[in-house]
Amino acid sequence: MSITAEFSFVHRFKPASEPVQPPLLLLHATGGNEDDLLPLGRMISPGSAQLSPRGKVLEGGMPRFFRRLAEGVFDEDDVRRRARELAEFVAEARETYGLAAAVAVGFSNGANIAAAVLQLRPEALAGAALIRAMVPLQEPPAADLSGKPVLIISGASDPIVPADNAKRLAALLKSAGATVQHHMLPAGHGLSQTDVAPIKAWIEQL
Ligand code: MLT
Repeated sequence: MSITAEFSFVHRFKPASEPVQPPLLLLHATGGNEDDLLPLGRMISPGSAQLSPRGKVLEGGMPRFFRRLAEGVFDEDDVRRRARELAEFVAEARETYGLAAAVAVGFSNGANIAAAVLQLRPEALAGAALIRAMVPLQEPPAADLSGKPVLIISGASDPIVPADNAKRLAALLKSAGATVQHHMLPAGHGLSQTDVAPIKAWIEQL
């Protein structure tokens, strides 16, 4: 495993042990870093390559993938800018490491930037698993997500993401053509063991 700052994002990269498995783009939550989702990645798709960048925006010293004005209120200009920047990094990493198109696995803030990348730069991702995601852009551009697989896993008692918001995200992605599965778990905002099985099953059928 290597860590490098020579790219546009500090990140971890772990090569595939089973190259037929899709590479995973692992996107951490607020206050996380490039190490956080590596264990989850190993659980859900053990043979996949892992590409795990660290968000560049700091909120009180905590890394994030874009700026927010308050909890759940996003600086949408920054969302757009950062989503494009992340898509550029993914292209850069794919070329350097020789990777097929990656499936994003994002948690919380990482899920929200992954949803924005789908809407703004759909070619950057083969699909996405969005854990505790919410709508990142109130008026997203018309994107063609035809056939892109998307899994949204929401928590029924999530105090940060209202159920209606997650449903709206599912509907937006569906109306852009994505093949969306939306699971509502008896969970809060935190990532839990119960998230693992549905993500693993979804990846296995890709
Ligand atoms: C966000 O800012 O992306 C969401 O509120 C999730 C979070 O980071 O808590």
